[in-house]
Amino acid sequence: MAIWTPALAAAPGTRAEALARAIGDDIRSGVLKPGDRLPPQRDLAYRLGLSASTVMRAYAEAARRGYVEGAVGRGTFVRSPGGQAGDRSGGLLRPADRGPIDFSQNLPFPGAAAGLLAETLQAIARSGDMASYLDHQDASVLRRHRNAGATWIAAHGLPTTPETVVLANGAQQGVFAAFLALLRCGDTLLVEELVYPPVKAMARHLGVRLRPVAMDEEGLLPDMLEAACRSGPARLLYCTPTLQTPTAATMSEDRRRRIAAVARSHDLTIVEDDVFGLLPHSRPTPLAAFAPERTVLVTSVSKSVAPGLRVGYVRAPAQLVPAVHAAVALSSWMPPPLMAEIASRWIEDGTAVHLNAAQRRHAADRQAMAHRILADRPIRSRPEGSHLWLGLPAHVSDTEICHALRLAGVLVQPAATFAVSRREPDAIRLCLSHESGDDRVAAGLALVHAATSPGAVDARSLVI
Ligand SMILES: Cc1ncc(COP(=O)(O)O)c(C=O)c1O
Repeated sequence: MAIWTPALAAAPGTRAEALARAIGDDIRSGVLKPGDRLPPQRDLAYRLGLSASTVMRAYAEAARRGYVEGAVGRGTFVRSPGGQAGDRSGGLLRPADRGPIDFSQNLPFPGAAAGLLAETLQAIARSGDMASYLDHQDASVLRRHRNAGATWIAAHGLPTTPETVVLANGAQQGVFAAFLALLRCGDTLLVEELVYPPVKAMARHLGVRLRPVAMDEEGLLPDMLEAACRSGPARLLYCTPTLQTPTAATMSEDRRRRIAAVARSHDLTIVEDDVFGLLPHSRPTPLAAFAPERTVLVTSVSKSVAPGLRVGYVRAPAQLVPAVHAAVALSSWMPPPLMAEIASRWIEDGTAVHLNAAQRRHAADRQAMAHRILADRPIRSRPEGSHLWLGLPAHVSDTEICHALRLAGVLVQPAATFAVSRREPDAIRLCLSHESGDDRVAAGLALVHAATSPGAVDARSLVI
């Protein structure tokens, strides 16, 4: 085809959105066909009088909407509907686009970060100081990375100094390092009654007992925490006050204040997992702000930027910093300095905030879609959360429905995966962000709707 040069409508919104819309319009009208390669971003930017980063954002938005799919260095190609027929992209479409519809993993959508990575790696290479990224722990590099971590945590609503920041290989390692630093074999760890599953495995490996604390739609109940503290010795609480895994419960500021007060009166240390902290636009202040002397806050760039960077940040009270640092060093020494450098540059130049905003918009679109399709179902979620919690009809077990959905080509997680005690509620968790095509997400949600209709327990006959 002749070089594709769209006409950009003077519609509300940014130029990048207008270009993404133009891609969709031209696919629908047949001007662009499945497998067509879009022009290189710089060429199109030149033709349209736009900046290269505007075109990059537009291509990322088009990918998010499921119009195109690309690979760094090979180009961006028009997807076929459903990612199946007429694939002329030379095998660029990910196998996942043809396999089961995956709502089981709480990952961000692979947005513009991939395109930016090439540029950032080139800029790092041009900086000429490559040896320091191969060094074990170059002091000046580490200082900059801790600074960036402090900036990132401050964006969560908590002013932070670099001396209180420890780098980890993602939030999960940050949580584990905090446990290594603060728990001893035989201790009891207080947790939400439904919990991020690796925490159960960590407790098992450390020889630590879990004591579940009941929740409502805001998360941990202060009275129940109080009761759990009285029922036996416990020194540590792990919780996720914003967009809890798996229930999406988010504590109000008042709830945070009350949880902090209970922790203070029972001398509990808190590990606050704030890995989703930047997703909601107006988010409550972290729990750590209400009990800074006893809270270890853990976050990362995984949900806002890219999980493959494996860069997390732990903010600890000054007296705990050496122990947390030693625990990270024990299990991995440190995140690879090159990855921490990429995260630092993106935090410093505002790219990370920009990518996070794109994840937030994407999550909001997907939540809106889920609320439309599952409108008559008991959903718990937040407008900008990446996951939702779906109650099931009476007498339908969470594991049965997951099995039936898997046979129908949809992957979700049952409550049993997260439950600390044997009696779990009948509910399932759906993660909406990672699947790239809106069409696949809509099809998956329609199947979930059908499978959760009263009387449709045996969903084995469902087909996509
Ligand atoms: C509550 C919670 N904490 C931590 C993580 C892991 O984050 P990271 O990829 O930064 O290790 C996840 C990932 O799903 C999560 O849900």
